[in-house]
Amino acid sequence: MAANDKFEGWLGLDKESVKGNMQWGEFEPKKWSEDDVDIEVSHCGICGSDLHMLSSGWSQTPYPCVVGHEIVGKAVRVGSNVKDITVGDRVGVGAQARSCLKPDCEECSTHQENYCGNGNISTYGGVYPGDEGKSYGGYAKHNRTHNRFVFKIPEGLDSADAAPMLCGGITVFSPLKRHGAGPGKKVGIVGVGGLGHFAVLFARALGADKVVAISRKASKRDEAIKLGADEYIATDDDKDWEKNNKRSLDLIVSTVSSAKMPLTSYLGLLRVHGTYIQVGAPDGGELPPVNAFTLLASGIKLGGSGIGSPDEIKEMLQLAADQKIKPWVQKRPMKEANAAIVDMEAGKARFRYVLEN
Ligand SMILES: NC(=O)c1ccc[n+]([C@@H]2O[C@H](COP(=O)([O-])OP(=O)(O)OC[C@H]3O[C@@H](n4cnc5c(N)ncnc54)[C@H](OP(=O)(O)O)[C@@H]3O)[C@@H](O)[C@H]2O)c1
Ligand SMILES: [Zn+2]
Ligand SMILES: [Zn+2]
Repeated sequence: MAANDKFEGWLGLDKESVKGNMQWGEFEPKKWSEDDVDIEVSHCGICGSDLHMLSSGWSQTPYPCVVGHEIVGKAVRVGSNVKDITVGDRVGVGAQARSCLKPDCEECSTHQENYCGNGNISTYGGVYPGDEGKSYGGYAKHNRTHNRFVFKIPEGLDSADAAPMLCGGITVFSPLKRHGAGPGKKVGIVGVGGLGHFAVLFARALGADKVVAISRKASKRDEAIKLGADEYIATDDDKDWEKNNKRSLDLIVSTVSSAKMPLTSYLGLLRVHGTYIQVGAPDGGELPPVNAFTLLASGIKLGGSGIGSPDEIKEMLQLAADQKIKPWVQKRPMKEANAAIVDMEAGKARFRYVLEN
């Protein structure tokens, strides 16, 4: 592929694109560098972030924008500086396309590239420095990404299963691991969507004593239990859920994507010194207000977490292959991407749509 080749994909042209109005067309990938890998996309998951981005929900999106950051495919062009990937390898890309990678960067030099504060570029909707161009995601035929953020997919892991792990999976795996989900811990997962379903699977795989799925409606109860949750709380439908489950959990990971959430009630589910981690990213980044006494009265911690580092991604993929973790994915043809995002917005995914080329 020539350096200035055009790629093709689903272009979001304005905020109406989220309503199923993406247009198929050509786009110019970032300028080629010998650190890059070009990938022929076979699969791309649909993440909640794709919808926030298409609708300019977080901030103004630099349209045209091709979303999709749960990419798996085949390496078709590999830069001369790239050591451990060869043409033909099955590889994947998550939500991050580059960080500063400087030896004196505190985060990049300590395997926390996802928190780099000097030049973090997202897989789509990012603008590279100088004249390198923009980043474009995986609702497309090809993707171009720096090799540090391109991962070999372990054998034994299906491509459609691996794809959504690269954002949805890692975003919950990282805080579960960091905050000690494992033997002796009771873990709550709020929001049983794409991320939430991975959180139930990974909390189980990490050996938590108990996994409690917390959703709005009673209608997902059977599916959540089948997925591996020990208990299920429906905050809209279960009477007295706060009282009945008070101070019962050590760790809560919340994947809720809307600011309309009963945050104080969720915090009431934590035991003394428990930890609440927000990973869901509502429009505008808004959260409900929290009263200081809610935190003081049980000595709890309120925090957040953003995707995961390349090392954590490799660890998660290997764990998923070793433990044969089976996410619930529904494959949709890439050509039906517009219908799939509309269904995703309507909350119909059980639990992750994966577009297939
Ligand atoms: N921190 C990060 O690095 C990171 C990475 C990836 C994604 N995200 C963000 O994580 C969020 C979830 O993504 P996803 O792909 O899992 O989306 P998703 O499949 O749509 O799941 C989101 C879940 O949030 C719950 N929810 C939605 N609206 C709600 C409301 N008004 N009140 C209470 N709960 C509500 C729903 O759970 P129930 O139906 O079970 O109630 C829904 O299933 C998005 O905001 C996304 O942008 C963050
Ligand atoms: Zn850095
Ligand atoms: Zn994502």
